Amino acid sequence: MNALDALHLRSSVPKLSDPLPDQEVLNNIYKAAFRAADHAVLRPWRFLIIKGNSRQRLGQLFVEAARADNPDLSDERIAKLQAKPMRAPMIIVSISSIKEHPKVPAFEQDLSAAAATQNMLQAAFVQNIGAMWRTGSMAYHSVVKNGLGLTAQEKIIGFVYIGTISGGTKQLNEPEVGHFFKDW
Ligand SMILES: Cc1cc2nc3c(=O)[nH]c(=O)nc-3n(C[C@H](O)[C@H](O)[C@H](O)COP(=O)(O)O)c2cc1C
Repeated sequence: MNALDALHLRSSVPKLSDPLPDQEVLNNIYKAAFRAADHAVLRPWRFLIIKGNSRQRLGQLFVEAARADNPDLSDERIAKLQAKPMRAPMIIVSISSIKEHPKVPAFEQDLSAAAATQNMLQAAFVQNIGAMWRTGSMAYHSVVKNGLGLTAQEKIIGFVYIGTISGGTKQLNEPEVGHFFKDW
C-alpha cells in the first residue's frame, strides 16, 4: 500500500480477534509513535501493553471504578465492564506524560501524545492489523488511572484495541474536502 492510500483509507476496526500480531508487526506499530510531531522532542508519552490475563485485571479495575461511583452495580453492568478489555487480544494504553518545558505547554504535549496514538493506528492499518481508539468514562476515572500507575499529571489519551481483523471493513465515503478547507 502506498503512503497516501494508507492515509486516505485507514479505518477503525471494532471487531478484533486472536491471534495477536507477531512481535515484528507490533514493533513497527510502536516505532510509528515516535514519528509524531513533537515540539522540542519531549516524547511526552508512554504506553502500557495489556494482553493475556492483564485484560481481566483491567476489566476488574473498570468494575472497581464503577463501584466507587455506585456500590450497587447490577450483575449485568459488572459483566459488561469485565468484558470490555476482552474485545481484542491486546490493548495499548496511550498515556500523555507531560514534561516541564518553558516553551511547550501541556496542551501541545497532549496533542503530541494523540498524534503518536494516531500514528500507531496508521501503522496497524498498513500491516493489515485491526485497531480502534477508544476512551469512554473509564479513561478519565481516577480509580483506573491510579490502578494503571499513572501519576497525577498523566492522562489516558486512549485505549488502542489491537488484533486480527474480524468481520467486514466499512465502506468509506469521499470526504467533503472543500467544506473543511477554504481559502482565507
Ligand atoms: C480520543 C478518541 C476517543 C474515542 N473513543 C471512542 C469510544 O470510546 N468508543 C467508540 O466507539 N469510538 C471512539 N472513538 C472513535 C473511533 O476510534 C473511530 O475513530 C470512529 O469510530 C470513526 O471511525 P474511523 O476511525 O474508521 O473513521 C474515539 C476516537 C478518539 C479520537
